[in-house]
Amino acid sequence: MSGIRKTMGSVASYILPQNTGKTDDPDPVTKLTSRDKYLVRSTWSKAMKTPADNGVLLLTMFFEKHPDYIQLFPFKDIPQEEFKQNVRFRAHANSVMYALSSIVDALNDNELLIQLLTKTGSSHVPRKVTPEAFIHLKEVTLELFAQLFKPEEVEAWKKTLDVAFSVILKGVESVKDT
Ligand code: HEM
Repeated sequence: MSGIRKTMGSVASYILPQNTGKTDDPDPVTKLTSRDKYLVRSTWSKAMKTPADNGVLLLTMFFEKHPDYIQLFPFKDIPQEEFKQNVRFRAHANSVMYALSSIVDALNDNELLIQLLTKTGSSHVPRKVTPEAFIHLKEVTLELFAQLFKPEEVEAWKKTLDVAFSVILKGVESVKDT
C-alpha cells in the first residue's frame, strides 16, 4: 500500500469513521480509483433491483431526447406510448442494463472489460448506430443518474462511462475501418 493520499477525492472517506478499505490509487488502464469503483458498484446494485423498469426509464428518456434514433429499431412503427409494453423495446432496455452490469462486474478485469465494450461497439455498426448515438446514450444515462444518485456517485459514474464509451467507440471504428 502506498499510504493514504489526502487528495480532494479522498476527503469523504477520510472523514467518515467506517473503514471501507477504499483507496484513491488509480487503475493504470482505466484511471478509476478503488473509491470510484466502490461508488459505481454500490449505486448500481440499487439500480439492478428493478432492471427492466430502470432500463425502460433510461430508454424512454433517451428516445424523448433523441427521437430520430427510434427509426433504427423494429418498434419504430408503433406509437411511443406503447413502447413500454413492446417486447423488443423491453428486450433492448434489459440488454443495455445487463451490459452495464457486465461493465460494473468487470471493473477489476480490464481485459474482459475491453472485450465486452469493443464488441458492443462493433455489433452495432450493421444497425447503423453512429458514435454520436452512443455519446447521446452516455449523456442521457448520466442525466438519469444525476436524478437518482449523489453528486460524488455521479462523478464516479462519469469517469467510468467516459472510459467505457471511449472503448465502445473504438469498437465502432474498428468495423468502419475495415
Ligand atoms: C452501452 C450501450 C448499448 C448496449 C450495451 C447495447 C446492447 C445491445 C444488445 C445486447 C443488443 C441485442 C444483441 C445483439 O447485439 O445482437 C442490441 C441491439 C440493438 N441495439 Fe443496442 N446497445 C447499446 C446502445 C445502443 C444505441 C446507442 C443504439 C441506437 C441509438 C442501439 C441500437 C440497437 C438496435 C437498433 C438493436 C437491434 C434491436 C432489435 O433488433 O430488436 N443500441 N443492443
